[in-house]
Amino acid sequence: MFTTVLSEKKATFACFPDDLFAAIEELKKDLNAVIIAHYYQDPDIQDIADYIGDSLGLSQQAAATDADVIVFAGVHFMAETAKILNPNKLVLLPDLNAGCSLADSCPPQEFAAFKAAHPEHIVVSYINCTAAIKAMSDIICTSSNAVKIVSQIPKEQPIIFAPDKNLGRYVMEQTGRDLVLWDGTCIVHETFSEKKIVQLKIEHPEAELIAHPECEPSVLRHASYIGSTTALLKYCQESPSQEFIIATEPGIIHQMQKQEPHKHFIPAPAINNCACNECPHMRLNTLEKVYLAMKHKTPEITIPEEIRAAAWRPIQKMLELSANMVKQ
Ligand code: 13P
Ligand code: SF4
Repeated sequence: MFTTVLSEKKATFACFPDDLFAAIEELKKDLNAVIIAHYYQDPDIQDIADYIGDSLGLSQQAAATDADVIVFAGVHFMAETAKILNPNKLVLLPDLNAGCSLADSCPPQEFAAFKAAHPEHIVVSYINCTAAIKAMSDIICTSSNAVKIVSQIPKEQPIIFAPDKNLGRYVMEQTGRDLVLWDGTCIVHETFSEKKIVQLKIEHPEAELIAHPECEPSVLRHASYIGSTTALLKYCQESPSQEFIIATEPGIIHQMQKQEPHKHFIPAPAINNCACNECPHMRLNTLEKVYLAMKHKTPEITIPEEIRAAAWRPIQKMLELSANMVKQ
């Protein structure tokens, strides 16, 4: 009835029930837990989740849940955001090492010095950053609301945009604003090859290239649509096209294929012949680790209260501005 599995990381043995899906469903009830998952997670995790979404949707879901336990199937900054919004709830991240190269590209001490060098500027930070950076920010944004949030800031107010320079550059183009950019990038979205994408478009002349704004300008300029993961998913549903080249982490293709089984989705190729377009951080989470996290109620996200309270304000501001956007 129980299978013994050798973990890939350590030479230790753990016992798993034969039907992990059923066991996780049982634990959900026992713990009054909700599983929220990003589109970049393994298909199995997406299928067991109560809610799947982009970073904005996940934070809105985390803010609204009445569950006692939040199992966050995503990366550290996402689970941290859920904890910032729910200080009294248990927030579990199946693998505590699931970080983010973009968040890591903005160390708090260096960012504090950067901010001090621009005393007139307010800070708009992309949600892909640590709680310490959020605590130094005035407003948080995600890829789905960055353009709208920056557009709402008075024109005479100078702005620092951190940490993703590609998203920052895209926001500059869309808003006509001159932003001071932090020099950070995502290892996954940097990996797409313009040359191979152009070649793929020649081989598939009917296919539309759609891209996440974290991609480099050399890729974005070939895209017929640019948006957050949720926006890309919606675009594939609404577009009459039957074939798409997807320039973001290919985990999202699971949902695209489920929603549009007759359409064809091609992952955009990486520069090297590798699987570098898969986020190595997101993919650290597995169904087994989700089960173990729920069974043992660990690893838990904790944040010093001073940082949590300071990080809460700019996230709350984003949630308020985003709610107004929906009503508009
Ligand atoms: P989304 O805002 O589309 O969820 O993007 C999150 C992310 O990590 C992109 O790399
Ligand atoms: Fe971070 Fe990039 Fe992975 Fe998104 S895809 S979590 S930005 S490393």
